Amino acid sequence: MTMTGQAKLAGVMGWPVNHSLSPVLHGHWLDALGIDGAYVPLAVAPEDFARVLAALPKMGFRGVNVTVPHKEAALAAVDEADALARRIGAVNTVIVGDDGRLTGTNTDGFGFLENLKGSAPGWVAGQGPAVVLGAGGAARAVIVALMDAGTPQIRLVNRTRARADRLAEDLGGPVTVHDWDDRAAILADADLLVNTTTLGMTGKDPLEISLDALPTTALVNDIVYAPLETGLLAAARARGNAVVDGLGMLLHQARPGFEAWFGQVPQVTPDLRARILAHLGQS
Ligand code: ATR
Repeated sequence: MTMTGQAKLAGVMGWPVNHSLSPVLHGHWLDALGIDGAYVPLAVAPEDFARVLAALPKMGFRGVNVTVPHKEAALAAVDEADALARRIGAVNTVIVGDDGRLTGTNTDGFGFLENLKGSAPGWVAGQGPAVVLGAGGAARAVIVALMDAGTPQIRLVNRTRARADRLAEDLGGPVTVHDWDDRAAILADADLLVNTTTLGMTGKDPLEISLDALPTTALVNDIVYAPLETGLLAAARARGNAVVDGLGMLLHQARPGFEAWFGQVPQVTPDLRARILAHLGQS
């Protein structure tokens, strides 16, 4: 599709931004849907972030995704952040209104749940206790999504316990905090195990956890997607648990922004997954 002078514009703001998969992802959808539009990487330093964001409407941008390290700054910089973004404490999607006002939302929790729904159709959210490893930004989005899906108990465990305590206090709801050393024991009767830490990622330490107490009926999800099959997922699969990798969360979190900026509903397809995997060098 040739781009014209009327091309709809969006992008991703990060620092650095050169490893972002979002331009490949949105570019695929723009091609597939034949849309006159562009989605570009925007390398913006933290000290420039607020000014650059505020200038987007003046350049005709319909919005942007915001990634590391700007997600918290974006919450403060938009004209209005929705309730979800405020609870998560971060904005990953900014939409420019017709009046030029910037609205911020957070689609990471949506992406997380849609990934589970799409990849583990037999699993239904809210049916039993969930265990969440990690208390960073990703954990916040995951926990909010699980709470809103009616999860009766969310057991949160983090190396730095104080960070988990703060998160539980901020979010309220059915979150219980546990010591990192108890991470194996709290798997008893769990329905879902999610790793939101960076452990198991290429170049990082492995995630060490015994799965012996976890029911084999539980679903296991790692939000790490490089490698696609982490040590956690391999161990879970070997003992008969259903597993879902982290790539789908990245693909699904992008859907609401694309629809808002470009006016068409994008699909997460095997073709798209293959294209992203090729970029990751894992196809
Ligand atoms: P994100 O925003 O992507 O979630 P983050 O805020 O850097 O990233 O969080 C990374 C998570 O991985 C945290 O829960 C972190 O634990 P701490 O809060 O104790 O730092 C966890 N993590 C990173 N390295 C770890 C390690 N070696 N052992 C245990 N947890 C680790």
